[in-house]
Amino acid sequence: SVTHVVLTGGIGSRLWPLSRKTLPKQYLELFDGESLFEKTVTRNLNISNKTIVVGNIENYKMSNAIMSKFEKPFTHIVEAVPRNTAAAIAFAAFASKPEDILLITPSDHIIEGNDLYISALKQAIELANQDYLITFGVKPIKPEIGYGYIEFEHQNVIAFHEKPNLETAEIYLKNGNYFWNSGLFCFKAEKFLKQLEMLEPEVFLTSKEAWEANKNGFLDYEMSMNIPSISIDYAVMERSKDIKVIPAHFEWSDLGSFESVYDYLVNKDHPIDANRNIVIGTSMHTTFVGVKNCILIYTTDALMVLQKENSQEVKQVYQQLESIA
Ligand code: GDD
Ligand code: MG
Repeated sequence: SVTHVVLTGGIGSRLWPLSRKTLPKQYLELFDGESLFEKTVTRNLNISNKTIVVGNIENYKMSNAIMSKFEKPFTHIVEAVPRNTAAAIAFAAFASKPEDILLITPSDHIIEGNDLYISALKQAIELANQDYLITFGVKPIKPEIGYGYIEFEHQNVIAFHEKPNLETAEIYLKNGNYFWNSGLFCFKAEKFLKQLEMLEPEVFLTSKEAWEANKNGFLDYEMSMNIPSISIDYAVMERSKDIKVIPAHFEWSDLGSFESVYDYLVNKDHPIDANRNIVIGTSMHTTFVGVKNCILIYTTDALMVLQKENSQEVKQVYQQLESIA
């Protein structure tokens, strides 16, 4: 039996002011009036028998509102405080049967090419049944430092490298036998838990304790604070020897920065001027004079003009503004 696990913990601070603490990017109706969260659930509805949403106390109402559109029952795990993805996935695994196949997805990515996506999932499910941890590799197009890199030979993973520095990422890009990690994973619940127990026993034990004390899927704050905050990438993927990779031929973007939002929109025929400037969030007539490659982001209470190449710096802007963000 296949369970779709939707991770919905992040706030998407690199997309401020579009994405807010009270309205993170996965809940924004950015694309054809639908949120990325809803698209994620829809995309995985037919291939899975069950859905588990792992979110937190700040967003569970928004998730519930979207989940109520689907007729399928679902399990909601509500974290008192985010403890990163190793723990979030462990909760979903504890809530499942040992032999259940978990298909872990972020809730804030764009994926297109549904047939290719489903066929990749089918291959992954088959390999997961043979007790491997499955990753999905995207062909890299630039030395992006916000991603994990999968060093591969056919379906075998030689090593997993989470968020390398720029120099290293440039070498990976040149070498040709590295994929970007898409952030989707597939494995048996018990396989993940065994690997976590072996590789990060403290995360395993503290998240097990916290899970056992859950009330209706709601986790306790104090017990959660005992869990080391570490991502699945560092905790398990970088260290496990049982990883396989399926090449992702579907279209994928994590919309992790305005640069990737820009690329996505421009590809989709979003209006762009002769100097490659674009506007997001308003149909108000806007003129750019003497500037190139800019993005103007308009919201009802905040406006940002951004040089596309500086997209990664938005996170710092957000941090400075946290009080009003
Ligand atoms: N429930 C829950 N709790 N969800 C969480 C938590 C948490 O504490 N922390 C993060 N998430 C969710 C995020 O909302 C997102 O959907 C997903 O887990 C991944 O977390 P990110 O914080 O977005 O990770 P990342 O972008 O830095 O890196 C990951 O994704 C890249 C691709 O987009 C890694 O897997 C990289 O290797 C990968 O390349
Ligand atoms: Mg991300």
